[in-house]
Amino acid sequence: MKPAVLVTKRIFPEAIEFLKQRAEVDYENSDDGLSAAALLERSRGKRAIVSQLTDKFDAARLAELEGVRAISNVAVGFDNVDVPAATRLGILVTNTPDVLTDTTADLAFALLLATARRIVEADRFVHTGAWRRWSIDLLAGQDVHHRTLGIFGMGRIGQAVARRARGFSMCVLYHHTRRAPEAIERDLALEFVSKKRLLADSDFISLHVPLNASTRGLIGALELHAMKPTAILVNTSRGPIVDEAALAVALERKIIAGAGLDVFEREPNVDPRLLQLENVVLAPHIGSASVETRRDMCMLAVENAVAAIEGRRPPNLIDAEAWRG
Ligand code: 8YV
Repeated sequence: MKPAVLVTKRIFPEAIEFLKQRAEVDYENSDDGLSAAALLERSRGKRAIVSQLTDKFDAARLAELEGVRAISNVAVGFDNVDVPAATRLGILVTNTPDVLTDTTADLAFALLLATARRIVEADRFVHTGAWRRWSIDLLAGQDVHHRTLGIFGMGRIGQAVARRARGFSMCVLYHHTRRAPEAIERDLALEFVSKKRLLADSDFISLHVPLNASTRGLIGALELHAMKPTAILVNTSRGPIVDEAALAVALERKIIAGAGLDVFEREPNVDPRLLQLENVVLAPHIGSASVETRRDMCMLAVENAVAAIEGRRPPNLIDAEAWRG
């Protein structure tokens, strides 16, 4: 009898095929996923769970997962899992890093360009037949090239965004819990600055920090007021990094000029004020959504799960302390 694995939500078929060759698969083949009660019920007798960011594993829920050896998240972020609690229970937690770095950085840059150059407004203008004549300042936006980009978080995705900024001859400032290695600073021509300076000097600010207790609400009313009135904020990290209500007010009152947002505080709900504004470009959490990358993420997640059920150390283990060999 092969060990049993629960897959909580639809993933790419190749990944299910791979898993089926190595495990008994209980597959929730839907985009709705499982309620908390159903997740608990279906986790009985399973050795691993292939989960997504919509599956919440807090300490209480983790404690109820009898016999589950691993939670394999199809995401680089793992704020949906209480990792210290999982570690205490000896549950391995894995994620899908690297494969989505460039894809997510592409989307951050796409949002930056779209907001600065008013691409969505322009598209609507032409699509709706409103374009009747040429005028000198029609949909005039902001330049991106040769301007200053401030990046919060200089991990893999932050670095990939900085690399793109170089191609646009931008000056790149960054703030992080610690300085990046000198070679990376040199290679990407990065300047490490205080949070205060990053807020004050950047024309564009892009967020690439993980969600945790110290980054929740990193950008609130105070920070928005500290930015330039021409500044554009881009968020492809996690919604709660930004106080969404404060952002909506700042955009309405033109405290800052615009925002490109892929993530929201209470997905799939979006502050209704943001929906009314022209100076925001909104996307439904599609940072890693290229076909190739989403497939790679699914494959990596099932490979992590299979390693765990076969007693091998999963390649993308987050809580190394839970590994007992
Ligand atoms: C995913 C993400 O699309 O990887 C992450 O942390 O936020 C996105 O890349 C999403 O988590 C899919 O479950």
